[in-house]
Amino acid sequence: MSPEQQAALKKSVAIAAADYVAANLPKGSILGVGTGSTANLFIDALVPIREKIRGAVASSKATADKLTAIGIPLFDLNDVDVIPIYVDGADEIDPGFSMIKGGGGALTREKIIADVADQFVCIADDSKCVQTLGRFPLPIEVIPMAVAQVARAVSKLGGKPMLREGFMTDNGNQILDVSGLSVSDPVAFESTLNQIVGTVTNGLFARRGADVLLLGTAQGVNISRRA
Ligand code: A5P
Repeated sequence: MSPEQQAALKKSVAIAAADYVAANLPKGSILGVGTGSTANLFIDALVPIREKIRGAVASSKATADKLTAIGIPLFDLNDVDVIPIYVDGADEIDPGFSMIKGGGGALTREKIIADVADQFVCIADDSKCVQTLGRFPLPIEVIPMAVAQVARAVSKLGGKPMLREGFMTDNGNQILDVSGLSVSDPVAFESTLNQIVGTVTNGLFARRGADVLLLGTAQGVNISRRA
């Protein structure tokens, strides 16, 4: 798929997601908003319906800035009890709706909001669909003093960690991108990675995967729900 075709699919899925929010977000409630190029297009698509949205919790500083620019009030997650819908992209999604996320480095805040949300709506073009997660290098957010130690631990699990050079997360941490993985049991592997001391968050979203997938294809946007 060419970059232009992929951009067109992202835009169509972003518009479909705004329609989904307009139809399903209860009046007066707070929306969770993800990070990345697809999420950015989704924010653009919210402009015509922004009056219907009381406010949003943002998964990154970049997303917060974009939401503010279109006039959607920001809420601190600590002041919000319920997020009916969280909309975000993915770097990969498998048939069970487990995902790899964090290509944009916002995985920790994304995973926190996803955990609070009643419904995770994943927005993706169909190049993101895989049978088995792992082709996309798995991002892991790491406390800076633990980078070498976490890299050794991940290597023992069969991964090839690479420090994301010159990048700092919104939380002041670093990212290891781990290639060479084939994640046949995402829930178990996410739990294994969670045990590595010094990691903040790994980019496997399996224990809390997506509930709804809006998938942009050449034939249109397909909506499916996790079985
Ligand atoms: C941000 O940290 C990521 O989790 C993104 O949601 C993911 O990388 C998808 O990004 P794109 O929409 O830019 O492909």
